[in-house]
Amino acid sequence: MSAGYVHGYSKSESTRLEDQANCLNGLLHHDTTFPDGSTVLEAGCGIGAQTVIVAPKNPGARFVSIDISEDSLRKAEALARSRCIRNVEFHVGDILDLKFPDGHFDHIFVCFVLEHLPDPVAALRSLKRVLKRGGTITLIEGDHGSAYFYPESRHAQEAINALVELQSRGGGNALIGRQLYPLMVQSGFKNCSVSPRMVYVDSSKPNLVEGFIKNTFTAMIEGIREKAVSSSVAGKDAMESGIQGLYRTCGPDGVFCYTFFKGIGHNI
Ligand SMILES: C[S@@+](CC[C@H](N)C(=O)[O-])C[C@H]1O[C@@H](n2cnc3c(N)ncnc32)[C@H](O)[C@@H]1O
Repeated sequence: MSAGYVHGYSKSESTRLEDQANCLNGLLHHDTTFPDGSTVLEAGCGIGAQTVIVAPKNPGARFVSIDISEDSLRKAEALARSRCIRNVEFHVGDILDLKFPDGHFDHIFVCFVLEHLPDPVAALRSLKRVLKRGGTITLIEGDHGSAYFYPESRHAQEAINALVELQSRGGGNALIGRQLYPLMVQSGFKNCSVSPRMVYVDSSKPNLVEGFIKNTFTAMIEGIREKAVSSSVAGKDAMESGIQGLYRTCGPDGVFCYTFFKGIGHNI
């Protein structure tokens, strides 16, 4: 992982990851299914926010969920235990230095991780090595260039751009969603397909106003406010007005759109 992991590992970031996973469950995971009897590697499971959705959806599959952060893994284990989920084992592991034999897994699942890696193709090739022939990789990523909203706000756009810039300085890419297809092809996966998943929110969807606009997207921008100011990527007042501009889209006349990208590639 890049040294400048932009979101950090704070308690508020853990809460944000859980809110994100819960409110996007149907949109992202209605088709995250793996055959009974298969072994699935979840790479970069973090605090287990996706694990506790995807593992119970696939009770006949066995999951091996890894992350480079021991602290996050402990939280993931505790979360899975608290939900009585028994088809997952957690291990510390680095995607770039996997300790599994070639072709060990039937399927691989990676959510919101590639955007933080300086060399996503190296990560995908490393993952491909441990994937069986005939197996699939499922990738889910966002793309902050896909965010548009009403009322429009120049400052809100600048605050989003500040996150894109910070993530880029740390070696990541907050605009990676649009690149999933070429990245999979470049890494040697075949029969690749990408499905864009748009979140559209207006005030008739109060759960998404809370869960997505406030607790996922705006919380993410708030989480980098200090870092953006201290690294002179944005001014303090501009960040403040930008965050207020994002909250403004939660009003009765507000609208917010964002697109996630879900890609599937085959190891043939
Ligand atoms: C934004 S979090 C996403 C966590 C989880 N997949 C989710 O969607 O809630 C990114 C995770 O990738 C992990 N990560 C980053 N680089 C990694 C690497 N080289 N190997 C394993 N995990 C890595 C981080 O520690 C972090 O927990």
